[in-house]
Amino acid sequence: MSQQQFARIKERLAVPVIAAPMFLVSSPEMVIEGCKAGIIGSFPLLNARTTEILEEWMERITQELAAAREEDTAQPVAPWAVNLIVHRTNKRYETDLDLIKKFQPPIVITSLGNPQPVVDIVHEYGGLVFSDVINLTHARKAANTGIDGLILVCNGAGGHAGTLNPVAFLSAVQEFWNGITIVAGCISRGQDIVAMEVLGADMVYMGTRFIATAETFASEAYRSMLMASNAEDLIYTDAFSGVHGNYLAPSIRNAGLDPNQLQKKDTMDFSFAQVSEAKAWKDIWSAGQGVGAIKRTAPIADVVAELREEYEQTYASLVSARKG
Ligand SMILES: Cc1cc2nc3c(=O)[nH]c(=O)nc-3n(C[C@H](O)[C@H](O)[C@H](O)COP(=O)(O)O)c2cc1C
Repeated sequence: MSQQQFARIKERLAVPVIAAPMFLVSSPEMVIEGCKAGIIGSFPLLNARTTEILEEWMERITQELAAAREEDTAQPVAPWAVNLIVHRTNKRYETDLDLIKKFQPPIVITSLGNPQPVVDIVHEYGGLVFSDVINLTHARKAANTGIDGLILVCNGAGGHAGTLNPVAFLSAVQEFWNGITIVAGCISRGQDIVAMEVLGADMVYMGTRFIATAETFASEAYRSMLMASNAEDLIYTDAFSGVHGNYLAPSIRNAGLDPNQLQKKDTMDFSFAQVSEAKAWKDIWSAGQGVGAIKRTAPIADVVAELREEYEQTYASLVSARKG
């Protein structure tokens, strides 16, 4: 059932892309404009700093997307998604789950824990659950919980990233999983999306490429640093959240730390309620190895249009190369 439901969603997208949820970066505006442009927009529930704010955001997204669907546009409006941290330290877990029941986002993306309880709730209202995983052990566990989609977070991804190469990760997962498969990590151009489809992915998950879009919460300083950086400016470390992720070395230096002398953070708290945790993500900025593709700030609709053009041209050139 979920495969058919997903096929219907996919055929109406401009490109098979989910704008990945990004802590302190994704905004309701970005979700709305992304969905209107024809990609699945998402945000981490914890980006709304209180439950009241979250309720307002979910209300607004629901209403604005419903209004957009009434308009007669060539591009169908894509479904929206939320990201729920299912780690035991997320103090908002229960209240955020109540809002998921109320607003029924079509897709719920779980991170950092067992998605099973979420699956029952989301399937009850007809939604889909995707889980992000950074290694094969987590992929195998998640595959047995009734989820609809696995998001394989490969090496070089922004935020908490794995260490597996996408070619290896995809082929290993295909041995035990035939559900919806989404790949993440350094995907920046239409060509990259085609490459992942050739390897067997149904869709891609893109974070870094969208950080500097006009609708996000990213500060001017963060945007400038992204535009001045390339893949070699990233440090892969567990110093800031206790889980390995990719961070911009210049932001670490600006915070008075030496990127080469970082210590592992020995506590984890994914409620992001602790001031120190929020501060780490506020002052020390994350990006993936695809950062070099960020050249300017542009509305998300323009980035989607660019991706679509590259995507279609790539398929067209593959077809003509095969014929020729
Ligand atoms: C600034 C930033 C914040 C992120 N925050 C989250 C988050 O709150 N929850 C989550 O599941 N993933 C988070 N991620 C990871 C993304 O959802 C996604 O896996 C990643 O960006 C994909 O790799 P890419 O950046 O190379 O496209 C974050 C990534 C970035 C760059």
